[in-house]
Amino acid sequence: MQKTLLITGGAGFIGSHVVRLFLKKYPKYKIVNLDKLTYAGNLENLSDVEDYNNYVFERGDIVDKKCVQSLFKKYNFDGVIHLAAESHVDRSISNPMEFIMTNVVGTLNLLNVSKENWGNFEGKLFYHVSTDEVYGSLGPEGLFTESTPYDPQSPYSSSKASSDHFVRAYGNTYGLPFIISNCSNNYGPNQFPEKLLPLFINNIINNKELPVYGDGLYTRDWLYVVDHARAIDLIFHEGKNTETYNIGGFNEWTNIDLIRLMCRQMDEVLGNDNGHAEQLITYVKDRPGHDKRYAIDATKLKNDLGWSPSLQFEEGLYKTIQWYMNNQKWMDNVTSGDYQNYYLQQYG
Ligand code: NAD
Ligand code: DAU
Repeated sequence: MQKTLLITGGAGFIGSHVVRLFLKKYPKYKIVNLDKLTYAGNLENLSDVEDYNNYVFERGDIVDKKCVQSLFKKYNFDGVIHLAAESHVDRSISNPMEFIMTNVVGTLNLLNVSKENWGNFEGKLFYHVSTDEVYGSLGPEGLFTESTPYDPQSPYSSSKASSDHFVRAYGNTYGLPFIISNCSNNYGPNQFPEKLLPLFINNIINNKELPVYGDGLYTRDWLYVVDHARAIDLIFHEGKNTETYNIGGFNEWTNIDLIRLMCRQMDEVLGNDNGHAEQLITYVKDRPGHDKRYAIDATKLKNDLGWSPSLQFEEGLYKTIQWYMNNQKWMDNVTSGDYQNYYLQQYG
């Protein structure tokens, strides 16, 4: 079956894995990737598939109504998979307005244009990709389920919660077909090196300190990014209209245990004595409003749609480390100021 899909944020970390999976698995679909190419978006993330003839890249801002409207007119989309966002909690603490603009206003703009262009909504779907952070912070026990009340604590999670509410409101008020998924922490290739794992891998390679926030006893639930992309594919095609699905790896780690495991794997890969990388661990001032623990109950996704993660965590982490070791040029490129202009001139 043929479909034309709009994927937003496809040049980012998770979006690039989703675009790749859809391009390869559905050669009859046309995939239009709309991305503003902020510091977090890099076309190099998709260099292996950019020549696929079912792929189109459109540079633009989801906040820009004219831009989104013209794409809907040009391509007549059957569905939207919406990943574009400002995604880093620390940046949301220093610059919340950017998060409101992209995550809230941008999402609302996409919803409006979808509503205006989709007639009676037959065969259409707005899939909104969200985060477990909307549920706030857990105590030592329990897991987030799809019915956990929203309780966002950071400007980032508040903006994502707001966008989730708007998506549901458009379903409820106008009948726009939608699905939302809320996922736990992703890790894997192509993650911008401001997030914990790629930042620390890069710091170890460069013999720099590993800044652990607070006491390091904060807990996150980690999922390999390709498993998230697989879940998005499954939910997009087999999920039910108006439903929410939680996605997670049943894989909780305190930050410090995770960092120690990563340090051991890095020592092995770099041929250093065990304990070498751990010496770089430095406890620093805590993140303000730091959520203590996230953990997802992904039972609904497993029972209803048959999804489960494909990778054991230690294997996924090792694979991830090897990817960053083998792609140091990528790391240099995405962290260099002139990179975006350079890449656009080359491949624009
Ligand atoms: P990312 O920061 O790596 O990528 C975001 C992408 O969106 C970039 O390519 C950027 O250029 C693009 N973008 C930003 N503002 C835009 C705008 N105004 N218009 C068009 N494009 C814009 O983010 P990510 O980690 O890949 O996250 C993708 C989505 O998944 C986000 O919605 C995020 O909230 C959600 N999510 C992320 C995680 C995670 O662990 N990273 C977990 C759960 C959910
Ligand atoms: O839970 C899903 C969320 O996971 C996504 O919605 C976000 O987009 C994504 O950024 C991620 O948010 P976190 O804040 O959990 O990820 P981050 O990599 O920033 O931090 C992971 C943990 O590590 C967190 O407890 C803070 C801590 N940390 C982070 C950094 C960058 C440190 O201790 N030191 C650091 O330098």
